[in-house]
Amino acid sequence: MTDFDPTIPPTATPEVEFISLSHLNPSTELDPVPSRGIDLKYFRRYVRSLEEGGFDYTLLPYGAGSADSFVVASAVGQLTERIKPIVALRPNTTPPSVAAQKLATLDQLTEGRAVVHLISGGSDAEQARQGDYLPKHKRYARTSEYIDVMRRSWTEPAAFSHQGEFYKFDDFGPGFAPYESPIPISIGGQSDEAFAVGGAKADIFSFWGEPLADLRSEIDRVNGIARDAGRTTLPRIWVTFRPIIAQTDELAWRKAKDYVERIARPALQGTPQNVGSQRALAFANKSELYDRALWTRTAAVTNAAGASTALVGSPETVAAAILDYVDQGASLVSIRGYDTLADAVDYGRYVLPLVREEIAHRKATGRRGRLQAEHLGNYRPEYAQFASTP
Ligand SMILES: Cc1cc2nc3c(=O)[nH]c(=O)nc-3n(C[C@H](O)[C@H](O)[C@H](O)COP(=O)(O)O)c2cc1C
Repeated sequence: MTDFDPTIPPTATPEVEFISLSHLNPSTELDPVPSRGIDLKYFRRYVRSLEEGGFDYTLLPYGAGSADSFVVASAVGQLTERIKPIVALRPNTTPPSVAAQKLATLDQLTEGRAVVHLISGGSDAEQARQGDYLPKHKRYARTSEYIDVMRRSWTEPAAFSHQGEFYKFDDFGPGFAPYESPIPISIGGQSDEAFAVGGAKADIFSFWGEPLADLRSEIDRVNGIARDAGRTTLPRIWVTFRPIIAQTDELAWRKAKDYVERIARPALQGTPQNVGSQRALAFANKSELYDRALWTRTAAVTNAAGASTALVGSPETVAAAILDYVDQGASLVSIRGYDTLADAVDYGRYVLPLVREEIAHRKATGRRGRLQAEHLGNYRPEYAQFASTP
């Protein structure tokens, strides 16, 4: 490529950290194994592989029928030295002062590694399973109050009382303190209410993978809300993908097409209630392929239930695509494959080092390296052919 522009875009973040969700047993969407349990040997190997591969965080997801994310996070802390457990937490499950106490305990047990990801609830039916009957806008209002109480519980040096719309208590505290500083709070959700609460209060705002231009305008939206709320520190941006990699772009496409046959769940139909999934399906309806390597077919065949948009290509193409998102302002990139453990190992070996090398190059020279210029993915004609061949 001759017209390589080494200027680092003004929206680029200087740092990137990697997240991957932890799996508790070998069941995957490709090869589902009917098990509701934890395979301890497997789980141990999984989290250690993430740590050895250079991941910075691991998300412990939460659902009404899942393992408890706090207990799992505590185990991650004890099985690893460095990786930070992110506890997915639904406010309906635990009062905020108790959540603050549990998170502070985790933070002390891990010497400052705890992070919390607040899930306000994307489905009324799922919320009802645990007795939460609030409509979504009220659930987000509750999350907003929840954040205030948690932060106060971590910092208030004396006992305090609280009377809000959702919580009331007397003389709580001083609460059990985090290891050194308040625990980072992330918000998941894409509805207007999620933006309002996350923009005003979250340390981290998270997305599922979207086309670059759409993500950029969503980031502007979060930042606008944060500035209007008087914040000088803007939320960090987290974006999630399901990469499908192989030695070459062509081989990755063969794998990707095999995967969609295997993960397709025709029974999952209807419009999901959460806006994140609605957006993923709308992108999938408009086009299968966006930008350098974003593929939406994986979302289409699973009704976008959970993070499902893919990045497809060689490690170089996928690393370049991740850097495209860093250039738009994402400083936290979550990647989890469909072949979960093998992919975590491969990402650690082949993708993370390429992204980190480019970031180090930028830091050292003030200029972009050549990775994005040399691994064009969908910006060259052959790639679209691989993608469209049946
Ligand atoms: C990165 C990320 C991780 C998420 N993890 C979970 C999870 O563990 N459990 C869950 O129920 N929802 C999870 N969600 C889903 C949303 O938080 C949920 O859909 C939201 O509460 C309401 O959606 P809405 O505001 O988009 O309508 C996650 C979302 C994102 C972006």
